[in-house]
Amino acid sequence: MLVRLMYASRAVPAVDHEELIAILRKSKANNPAVGVTGVLCFSGGIFLQVLEGGRSAVNKLYNRIASDSRHTNVELLVYEEIGERRFAGWSMGQVNMSRLNPALLLKYSERATLDPFSVSGQVSMALFQELMATASIVGQS
Ligand SMILES: Cc1cc2nc3c(=O)[nH]c(=O)nc-3n(C[C@H](O)[C@H](O)[C@H](O)COP(=O)(O)O)c2cc1C
Repeated sequence: MLVRLMYASRAVPAVDHEELIAILRKSKANNPAVGVTGVLCFSGGIFLQVLEGGRSAVNKLYNRIASDSRHTNVELLVYEEIGERRFAGWSMGQVNMSRLNPALLLKYSERATLDPFSVSGQVSMALFQELMATASIVGQS
């Protein structure tokens, strides 16, 4: 029983590049043991993350992440049962921000900023798909 979950949140001001690296390091250390894969994007103070894996593992991890004091306004965007993973290659991949160019953002939203709070979950998912297709997700599992 696999599920895919996507949420968006707002980082607290103290979150900087080092904190992001620490979150990614922790994710890569923890996720393989529970069979969770996914991708994390951080842009303009906004987190956008996809988690895939067994339903219990994903639900448990999401609840833990949602109560993390490094972000607020955690909003569930997509929760779906899936037959197969899309982001199986990453225990927690990272979006290469230099690939998150204005044209790609404009393709899916009204303005060239990452704002998952104002577009549908499916639009944010399409953006992730495109980032993956253009090899813009870095970080080996
Ligand atoms: C935006 C964001 C994404 C996170 N993603 C993950 C994740 O994918 N896996 C994970 O184990 N922890 C993730 N964390 C960290 C968890 O909230 C929590 O601090 C961590 O899982 C605790 O692990 P520990 O009990 O091994 O110290 C994330 C935190 C934030 C703020």
